[in-house]
Amino acid sequence: MELIREKILSAYEQMAERYNALIDHKPHNAYYDRPNTLELIPQIEGKSILDAACGPGKYAEILLSKGASITGFDISPTMVQLAKERNPDAGDFFVHDLSMPCHMLEDESFDVVLCALALHYVQDWTLTIREFYRVLKPKGILVISIEHPFFEYNYFNSKRYFDIEHVKGIWKGFGKPVEVNSFRRPLGECLAPITDNGFYVDKLIEPKPTPEFEALDPRHFKELNDFPAFMCLRAVRKD
Ligand SMILES: C[S@@+](CC[C@H](N)C(=O)[O-])C[C@H]1O[C@@H](n2cnc3c(N)ncnc32)[C@H](O)[C@@H]1O
Repeated sequence: MELIREKILSAYEQMAERYNALIDHKPHNAYYDRPNTLELIPQIEGKSILDAACGPGKYAEILLSKGASITGFDISPTMVQLAKERNPDAGDFFVHDLSMPCHMLEDESFDVVLCALALHYVQDWTLTIREFYRVLKPKGILVISIEHPFFEYNYFNSKRYFDIEHVKGIWKGFGKPVEVNSFRRPLGECLAPITDNGFYVDKLIEPKPTPEFEALDPRHFKELNDFPAFMCLRAVRKD
């Protein structure tokens, strides 16, 4: 486990600068994940938002511009530094691992927890979701985006749908090819950690790319209109 965590950290340290340089317009982020995930955050102005696994702070930049206050963390020190540079005047960013308790964050201190495209780096979601519950105010909102479990089942050529499996792929879109390790899981294992730990699922989106995607990457635009690669979900803290 520790070794896989180290490999994930090392991969993002290697990709961080390039990831940051591309994030504003990279089609899967800018015209697929972000518009669909942001749609799940109602009334951003005045909200206190935790951006868990914030990467280089692009979500934070958008949310700050819409009047939210942002606390963000990421396992990668380079990503955290880039998030600070992207948002020099606001936001509080620090290094932290999603799979560890967030002792530095107070109970019931956020209106929204956002966790975009990162939970597949955590094998067991239970502690993470319980921490999200603890730091959210009653009736607070958890918004996540993840790789769609049916997409991953095909993409990783899995033969054991019901297992949580360690998988890896080579990413070529961020400079030198980098091996990226993660965990794929069935749909039930995406929902149960949320509904078993104090939340109800309020809305689930199987996203479609926005029109801007097509000019930049017509092949994936067509594929994503035929089959989803990501899934976006809003859950509400029950009490
Ligand atoms: C695909 S990027 C998404 C970044 C950002 N949420 C966004 O959508 O722009 C995944 C991020 O998760 C971070 N990450 C991976 N494992 C993590 C962990 N265990 N704890 C915190 N961050 C982690 C990576 O360093 C990387 O910045």
